[in-house]
Amino acid sequence: MEHAVEVEDLVKTYGSTRALDGVTLQVPEGRVLGLLGPNGAGKTTTVRVLTTLLRPDSGRATVLGIDVLKDPDRLRRVIGVAGQYAAVDELLTGRENLVLVGRLYHLPRAEITRRADELLERFELTEAASRVVGGYSGGMRRRLDLAASLVNRPRVLFLDEPTTGLDPRSRLRLWEVIEDLVRDGTTLLLTTQYLEEADRLADRIAVIDTGKVIAEGTSDELKDKVGGSVVVVRPADPADGERAMVALQAVGDPVRGTGGDLTMQATTGVALVTEAARVLEEAGVAISELALRRPTLDDVFLTLTGHGAEQAAAEETA
Ligand SMILES: Nc1ncnc2c1ncn2[C@@H]1O[C@H](COP(=O)(O)OP(=O)(O)OP(=O)(O)O)[C@@H](O)[C@H]1O
Ligand SMILES: [Mg+2]
Repeated sequence: MEHAVEVEDLVKTYGSTRALDGVTLQVPEGRVLGLLGPNGAGKTTTVRVLTTLLRPDSGRATVLGIDVLKDPDRLRRVIGVAGQYAAVDELLTGRENLVLVGRLYHLPRAEITRRADELLERFELTEAASRVVGGYSGGMRRRLDLAASLVNRPRVLFLDEPTTGLDPRSRLRLWEVIEDLVRDGTTLLLTTQYLEEADRLADRIAVIDTGKVIAEGTSDELKDKVGGSVVVVRPADPADGERAMVALQAVGDPVRGTGGDLTMQATTGVALVTEAARVLEEAGVAISELALRRPTLDDVFLTLTGHGAEQAAAEETA
C-alpha cells in the first residue's frame, strides 16, 4: 500500500451544485496534507466522504487500503475525525464526553479512564474535566472535540478547520498539539481557510476551489507558481485603491488582495518597485507601504483563482 489516503475523481452533486467535481488527492502515510480553500470549495464534503458520513455520486476513496464504501465499519475504527463544528454533548462534562466516545469504540473500562485522563491533560482540560461542556469557551470545546477524535488512537486523522474561531494564542497552542500528533506518526488530512496554517502544518498543500483541486504541491512549490517575488503596495488612504490600481496597470498586472493591498508579480524584480513608486507619485496616490517580498499562499490563491481566499469567502456568505 502506497498512500494512507487515496482519493480518485470524487464527484458529489446537490441539485445543480457540483460540491465535488472530480477531486483527486493522496496522503502518504505519516504525512500531513493541507486541503486549502475558501467557503464552499468542497473541503467538508471531501472529509465527509472520507469518514464514511457521505456517499459520493462516483469516484473512489480508500483510507489505509480500506474502501470507504465497501467497509465503512472497519474504516471508522482506524480513523479519527473532528468536524467543522464541535460535536460534543453540552449536557455532559468534559470527561464524560471522552468516556462516552471510548464506550462507542468498545474499549475496556480501565483503558477508557486512562485514555481520558491522558487526553484531558494533553489538551489542558484537566481542571475543567468535571464541568459540563455547556459552560466551556469556544476554544475549550474545540480542544475537547479534538481530544474526542483521538480516544481510539487513530492512525489517520481528519481535522476540518480545526482552528477556525480561535484566538491567535489558542490557535498556536493547537498547532503545537497537532505537530506532536504528527511527530508520533499520525497521518493527517487537515482542511483550512488559513494560508498560514497550511504553510505551517502541512507537508503538501492541495488548493481546492469549486469542487476541484486547482493546484497541489509543497508550500514552496506553490509559491514558485507566482514567480520569484511580488511587489506589494498599500495606499495610505484605502479610498485610493481604485486610482492606485489604474496607475499600476501602466507597469504591471495588479490584483487587489485582502485588506486593500495591491499585489503584482515582480517580473522585472526590484526595478518594478521604482517604477511603481514613480507611477503612484505621478497619480498623486500617497502610499504607506511599498515592498518586494516572497509570495505568500494568499498571493498563490490570487494568482490561481483571480480572487483572494478571504474575498471568495465573503462573497459566499454575502
Ligand atoms: N447538504 C447539502 N445540500 C446542498 N448543498 C450542499 C450540501 N452540502 C454542501 N453543499 C454545497 O456544496 C458546496 C461545497 O460545500 P462544503 O461544505 O464542502 O464547502 P467547504 O469547503 O467545507 O466550505 P466552508 O469553508 O464554508 O466550510 C457548497 O456550494 C455547499 O453549498
Ligand atoms: Mg466546511
